[in-house]
Amino acid sequence: MEALLLGAGLLLGAYVLIYYNLVKAPPCGGIANLRGRTAVVTGANSGIGKMTALELARRGARVVLACRSRERGEAAAYDLRQESGNNEIIFMALDLASLASVRAFATAFLSSEPRLDILIHNAGISSCGRTREPFNLLLRVNHVGPFLLTQLLLSRLKTCTPSRVVVVSSAAHRRGCLDFTRLNHPVVGRQQELRAYADSKLANVLFVRQLATQLEGTGITCYAAHPGPVNSELFLRHVPGWLRPLLCPLAWLVLRAPRGGAQTPLYCALQEGIEPFSGRYFANCHVEEVPPAARDDRAAHRLWEVSKRLARLGSGEEAESNEDPQPEDAEAPFSLRSSQAEDPAVSEPYPASQNSPDLSKVIHRSQIKAEPKTPAS
Ligand SMILES: NC(=O)c1ccc[n+]([C@@H]2O[C@H](COP(=O)([O-])OP(=O)(O)OC[C@H]3O[C@@H](n4cnc5c(N)ncnc54)[C@H](OP(=O)(O)O)[C@@H]3O)[C@@H](O)[C@H]2O)c1
Repeated sequence: MEALLLGAGLLLGAYVLIYYNLVKAPPCGGIANLRGRTAVVTGANSGIGKMTALELARRGARVVLACRSRERGEAAAYDLRQESGNNEIIFMALDLASLASVRAFATAFLSSEPRLDILIHNAGISSCGRTREPFNLLLRVNHVGPFLLTQLLLSRLKTCTPSRVVVVSSAAHRRGCLDFTRLNHPVVGRQQELRAYADSKLANVLFVRQLATQLEGTGITCYAAHPGPVNSELFLRHVPGWLRPLLCPLAWLVLRAPRGGAQTPLYCALQEGIEPFSGRYFANCHVEEVPPAARDDRAAHRLWEVSKRLARLGSGEEAESNEDPQPEDAEAPFSLRSSQAEDPAVSEPYPASQNSPDLSKVIHRSQIKAEPKTPAS
């Protein structure tokens, strides 16, 4: 009997530890009123993306749900309108696996939406499922598609500064290791998929680092966010049916709910005063140090160049908007088009916060690069 009680006590203690360290997420805070601002959230029909979109909508933003399935996207838009009481939630089709779809989305968005204040790259996959592509599908969906989309929407972000780009990465980036000779090779088997997932999440962190360098002084800042271990369909959808009844309750107990997972991406999108941390990686609503592979500026630069090629970004298209979709298999570089950004409504600057981070502790990015061990906020 005593042994039983001791066992139960230990289990409870272990769960309390797990709960407070993993399951419970700190609330994001940040700008409370987003009226007049527009946000794009990719993969917003489920999991973390849906909860991220909900919070943005509750705060009054116009939210574009960029999803690959019209049915799931429209259903999510309906749910979110009901839950938030905000009617400014719309679905727009985006399949990150297809460069043509990314371009079509950008064209549709630029021609219909005068503002872009917050771009959240949330969509992601952990497996290729049954799809067989002649390229690395995980890298395409998790990194190359978002890379291209960012480039195509930069002009609109620039007209709405201060604006932000958030890339939902993962702690899995710590296991990543980019092999530039095989970056786009097709991924076969679960082992390779897990490796490719970690690599794609490392690519997210390096992309954000390089993007911040390119955008310094423009008023656009960018952040990589780890949502924590979240109870979503990301990994569960690939679990065999017979295992789900066992795993689902366990996942519910020890993993964060999607709403908790949305807190760090939201923090990166909304928290005032974190601009000096542009280019950095956040977890649990705090800036976090990353391993050497994720702060390797040469690798970040090389990845940028390779990504331009993989995204078939034409010379001169970088940081410009291209208003026309192009065929995915086009070999010729895309032509440079002058982008005539529409006149956005006047943008309110981010209001000064009551609880901004102590900026005396903030270290400039160039110093952060030199002093990687310095903790912040
Ligand atoms: N769950 C975790 O523990 C965890 C941990 C660290 C990081 N993350 C990251 O968090 C992000 C969100 O994941 P989640 O956990 O919320 O998983 P999720 O519920 O599976 O959501 C993923 C979303 O991405 C969309 N998506 C997948 N492929 C797409 C494509 N080709 N084009 C456009 N959208 C696509 C999915 O759409 P469909 O519904 O149509 O498939 C879905 O809406 C991912 O980037 C993931 O890597 C998750």
